[in-house]
Amino acid sequence: MNSASSRSAHIVLIGMMGVGKSTVGRRVARELSRSFVDSDDEVVARTGRAVTEIFATDGEAAFRDIEAEVMAELLASPVPSVIAAAGGSVLNSSTRARLRESGTVVWMRAPVDVLVGRTSRGTHRPALANNPRATLTQMETDREALYGEVADITVDCTAPIAAVVRTIVQSVNEVDAQ
Ligand code: S3P
Repeated sequence: MNSASSRSAHIVLIGMMGVGKSTVGRRVARELSRSFVDSDDEVVARTGRAVTEIFATDGEAAFRDIEAEVMAELLASPVPSVIAAAGGSVLNSSTRARLRESGTVVWMRAPVDVLVGRTSRGTHRPALANNPRATLTQMETDREALYGEVADITVDCTAPIAAVVRTIVQSVNEVDAQ
């Protein structure tokens, strides 16, 4: 359990690409009258470059460095927010340590089949350009323990968005009440 779980701390959504962190996060934020922020959007705002362009020009390692800086900034913000943390943000050990102190961390999960369908529509996921099913399957294997290490709550996100939003709001309220 994260030490900073309280009504005043952040709600951070983690999980694989395509699970619905941004869509669900926006709605959870609205329900709880909090501000919403997405780490990929912050990377773009900070660099003035698209995620795909950073991967292509500077490589994944450079993207991960920027992502870790952005996550540190977002998690340090005193404004209790809903934060959608991009799927790979947990790869960084400092980010994982910060996540554990940041508030309530919600691990959004869905089967790879669902992720494949949902990611076919996005444009900021260069890693999925070739064979998205195999890539997502491997990524999930590699990252499962890392998501589990920082999560306070795990939510099945196969259900329609409205139901997922309801479950997350309820779960966060339960954690806050403890
Ligand atoms: C990535 C997830 C993406 C984006 C980039 C890499 C990953 O964000 O940061 O394509 O490695 O899981 P979303 O999780 O918001 O799709």
